[in-house]
Amino acid sequence: MAIIEIENLTYRYPHTEQPALRDLSLQVETGEFVAVIGANGAGKSTLCYTLTGFVPHFFQGELAGRVHVAGLETKDHHLEDIVLVSGLVFQNPFNQISGAKFSVYDEIAFGLENLGVPREEMPPRIERAMAMTGIADMAGRSPYDLSGGQQQRVALASMLVMEPKVLVLDEPTSQLDPLGSREVFAVIRELSREGMTVVMAEHKLEWVAAFADRVLVLADGQLALSGPPAEVLTSPLLESYHIGQTRYTSVARLVEAEGGWPAGEPLPVTLEEAEVSFKAALISPQMNAD
Ligand SMILES: Nc1ncnc2c1ncn2[C@@H]1O[C@H](COP(=O)(O)OP(=O)(O)OP(=O)(O)O)[C@@H](O)[C@H]1O
Ligand SMILES: [Mg+2]
Repeated sequence: MAIIEIENLTYRYPHTEQPALRDLSLQVETGEFVAVIGANGAGKSTLCYTLTGFVPHFFQGELAGRVHVAGLETKDHHLEDIVLVSGLVFQNPFNQISGAKFSVYDEIAFGLENLGVPREEMPPRIERAMAMTGIADMAGRSPYDLSGGQQQRVALASMLVMEPKVLVLDEPTSQLDPLGSREVFAVIRELSREGMTVVMAEHKLEWVAAFADRVLVLADGQLALSGPPAEVLTSPLLESYHIGQTRYTSVARLVEAEGGWPAGEPLPVTLEEAEVSFKAALISPQMNAD
């Protein structure tokens, strides 16, 4: 059985007419790094809540279908038990801060205290999480006196330290600068290589292309596309779902429109692919015809 199995999930928030997720089926294997993309309101956050039990236990509403995560059928288990195996990094880092602790270090320790982790095991785990997220020098600062991007790193660290089997991240780099975003993607990639299963809602397509194993497209609450980044991110359907493309694909499409793209050469989605395919385009007969 896959670590995440969703079958025919339809979910409606309370007091709403239209379901936020519609007849969605999905399997994710252990250690897979899956990125979820989609327009505003497509259902990315709702899917994140569903994978971590907040739907239906916190948001209530009407859920049909099956959601099985890390051995638990979510609707049959309490949220307290689900969050031990499937952790969520919220879209807004402010929502992650406990409000109970006055330093970054204690904030990150908070989850471990709740887990009942022995005191002596805490420091190495906390220090590793802080190092991985680049906040080692902020241990004594108040979680409230940080920039949005710094808070986002603290939120990520406080989830990583719990070492959940499934890590769900809702736009965890939305407030990070470009290099910070790449660092976070690289850390997540590393953790997935170590066996953590990752589902990440994200708009930054260049990093999705470079780091994710698979890309899901949500459109209007439905799973519209699922496949390797090179395939999904060059799909001609993306525009109809209000999704852009990587800068590499954009430039390649311009060259293609001018008739300069070699027949059969795939459109690139990463810098490495762009280097290969633009070299091929430069030596192709079409470009040298006149
Ligand atoms: N708490 C809520 N109560 C009622 N409806 C909600 C609630 N949260 C989200 N919705 C609705 O559910 C749908 C999916 O919203 P969701 O937040 O999952 O989208 P999203 O893809 O995360 O968008 P964004 O890119 O803006 O974060 C939208 O139509 C939204 O209006
Ligand atoms: Mg969202």
